[in-house]
Amino acid sequence: MKNDVKNQFLLDPDVTFLNHGSFGACPKPVFEDYQHWQKKLEQQPVLFSTETVYEQLRQSRTALGDFVGCHEQDLVFFQNPTTAVSNIIFSLELKPGDEILMSNHEYGALVRAWSKWGRRQQVKIVQQEVKLPVTTRENFTDNFWAGVTQRTKVIFLSQITSATALEFPVQSLCELAREKGILTIIDGAHVPGQMDLNLNELDCDFYTGACHKWLCAPKGTSFLYVKKEHQPWVRPLIYSWGKDGDDPGPSEFLQDFQWQGTRDMAAFLTLPKVIQFFQEHIEGKRLSCKKLIRKTSAELARLFNTPPIYASADWIHQMVSHPLPVNAPEDIKERLWSAYKIEIPVFQWCGQRYIRVSCNVYNTDQQVEYFLNALRSLI
Ligand SMILES: Cc1ncc(COP(=O)(O)O)c(C=O)c1O
Repeated sequence: MKNDVKNQFLLDPDVTFLNHGSFGACPKPVFEDYQHWQKKLEQQPVLFSTETVYEQLRQSRTALGDFVGCHEQDLVFFQNPTTAVSNIIFSLELKPGDEILMSNHEYGALVRAWSKWGRRQQVKIVQQEVKLPVTTRENFTDNFWAGVTQRTKVIFLSQITSATALEFPVQSLCELAREKGILTIIDGAHVPGQMDLNLNELDCDFYTGACHKWLCAPKGTSFLYVKKEHQPWVRPLIYSWGKDGDDPGPSEFLQDFQWQGTRDMAAFLTLPKVIQFFQEHIEGKRLSCKKLIRKTSAELARLFNTPPIYASADWIHQMVSHPLPVNAPEDIKERLWSAYKIEIPVFQWCGQRYIRVSCNVYNTDQQVEYFLNALRSLI
């Protein structure tokens, strides 16, 4: 893969960085824009925080709304998806015995958030097992939907999973849930930038995405989409000035969520620049990244002599998780780092160890070859 954009990133050139999925990586022009907003705040803290920021937030919501296919007034910014989803969890008013249905591939921190809340509310958290390898979309949907009961009130599902890096077909489940009056909360932490997203078409009730992962925004740029009809009953975890403050926001929903006490909102304000950079330098190269990931996946299967966790490669995008063989050293992650300076996640999931490879525009065929050779010498 030819690579002109690599030196636009701040990444340490001595490191082979194959872990974009964890926290993303921010390009220099975007980082400069981030610092520009921080400086602007410090030049006139009062004017900025009581007036300027609101128009800039509106521009950021507009840029993001155009990008993810929804109205800007249906979006609010958060630092991360955990906080965004927690605001929904704690707004729900369910009865003891009601059920939340999710897969067993959900992000651990959020499973924990649901479970802590569920225990207090006596709401049952049901984790439907999605067996590997995943086969067809239809099988997935039928198997997941089999977990729905009369008591299911909410479906919580990742659109791209964290540990297994698979794209779940959430659209068909949102349709089924709508017919049954079940709320849908979609965790799209890995989606914006990695695959196209149109929230109007998806028509879920709630959606969260992280922009600091695959859109390459500065850290702490995430959003929550709330369908209009739910905005009156969704409550922020933190109440601040809201409609009694400076925020001229067009709805109480925006006023309540936007101002959460004094904080640095510079990262949110970079979104017009983030999207511009993405469209100019990243979007057109995603296909090459996907091809490199598919090639890597096939190489890992050959090297480890273990099959992929999917039946066809259209379940993955720019990340792949592959099961490690039993003979892989315990400290393989540490050795990849200390001997080769390769940054890559290795973790245990459902009783099996996995290695997860991410590929973005700054990664090259040579880096992947270097990584595979390192594995060959360690296995
Ligand atoms: C699928 C998924 N959901 C949610 C999150 C939450 O991210 P954070 O810890 O930044 O809130 C992540 C983070 O990687 C994730 O992969």
